[in-house]
Amino acid sequence: MRPSILSAMDLTREEEAILNGEEGEGRQKAMELVTALGKIYGAEDLIDITSAHLSGASYKTIGDGGLKYLEDMAAGGAKVTVPSTLNPVGMDRTRWREMHISEEFAEKQLRIIDLYGQMGIRTTCSCTPYVGPNVPSMGDHVAWAESSALSFVNSYIGARTNREGGPGALAAAILGKTANYGLHLDENRKPTVVIDADIDGSIFSYSLLGQAVGMAIGSGVPYFKGISPEVEEAKTLCAAMAASGSVALYHVEGVTPEAGNFDVSDLEVIHIGEKELQAAYDKLNTVDDIQLIALGCPHLTEKEMHQIASFLKGKKKVNKDVEIWFCTSAEIRDRCPEDVKIMEEFGPVLADTCMVVAPIEGTFQRTGTNSAKAGNYLPTLCSQKAMCRDIAKLMEVVL
Ligand code: F3S
Repeated sequence: MRPSILSAMDLTREEEAILNGEEGEGRQKAMELVTALGKIYGAEDLIDITSAHLSGASYKTIGDGGLKYLEDMAAGGAKVTVPSTLNPVGMDRTRWREMHISEEFAEKQLRIIDLYGQMGIRTTCSCTPYVGPNVPSMGDHVAWAESSALSFVNSYIGARTNREGGPGALAAAILGKTANYGLHLDENRKPTVVIDADIDGSIFSYSLLGQAVGMAIGSGVPYFKGISPEVEEAKTLCAAMAASGSVALYHVEGVTPEAGNFDVSDLEVIHIGEKELQAAYDKLNTVDDIQLIALGCPHLTEKEMHQIASFLKGKKKVNKDVEIWFCTSAEIRDRCPEDVKIMEEFGPVLADTCMVVAPIEGTFQRTGTNSAKAGNYLPTLCSQKAMCRDIAKLMEVVL
């Protein structure tokens, strides 16, 4: 009996039957989790979703406990009922030896991927599914984990998702439903503060802007003036604000689809300019001497692959002591053979993984990146000292 959950939410007869185990243990467990979350956050009912994106896929982050949970879910017959994609895992599934990954880690990681596949999840293993196989539409309700990706679909596309955790997104994917609260509701999508941004418009300036905004506001729904991000800049901004703060939705005047719905004249205005960007830079840079340069947080798009290859073309890697990893999805890697050829002269173009969810701490202690998100997580999740600079400055270390 689960009277407290039932009394808190208005469930349909079919949803109650799932909760009572009439459709198997896997779906029952999923319903228990989704309704428990709904109760905690004050949801009145469940809503249908059109897609899910799942995190919690790296053996490094979920360990043996997470692997066991996935084994149990798959054995219980759990299957997703909406199109679902998967976040990066702890290694490139074919080139893991180049990442200094142990046989034991590789075996368990491949098992995790296999279990997600058994549940019907498309094992894309990328944090940018929105440039490939999983593109929601404006107004769609979805259940996405991965803080940068969910912020992108909320903000740049105008789909609606909360900041789901891995198990919550998996449960929602199995049910095709999520609890109706938070950013699914109109009233929670209103801007809470105006950001008057003064940046040079480079990708790296968007990383620092996101870092500075996260540091300034922590959470809320910023409304930006003075910027015009395209996909690459928007994903960088999403990732940075989600890591330095917990921002899951933002609007950009004249750019994002919901921005025109709001009157922001009464909101507080925060200026982010040179001084704030410098403070963000100082926070992210704790070392001048690195062993690894890792690019692709979030995963590199086709355009970024082309830009990097163009920058590297005709240059030589002189400093052989520093490794370089380029992280993207398998799909993007396949689409850019000419760029990949140039980039591979400098280091592997890895798919399925990234510098944060891979167990790099077994090999490296000092890592360079151009991403504020990675700059936040390399010290906390990977025991690294970090260098965070734009790509040209990072490459000065090896050229
Ligand atoms: Fe993606 Fe890894 Fe960064 S999952 S957003 S590349 S930390």
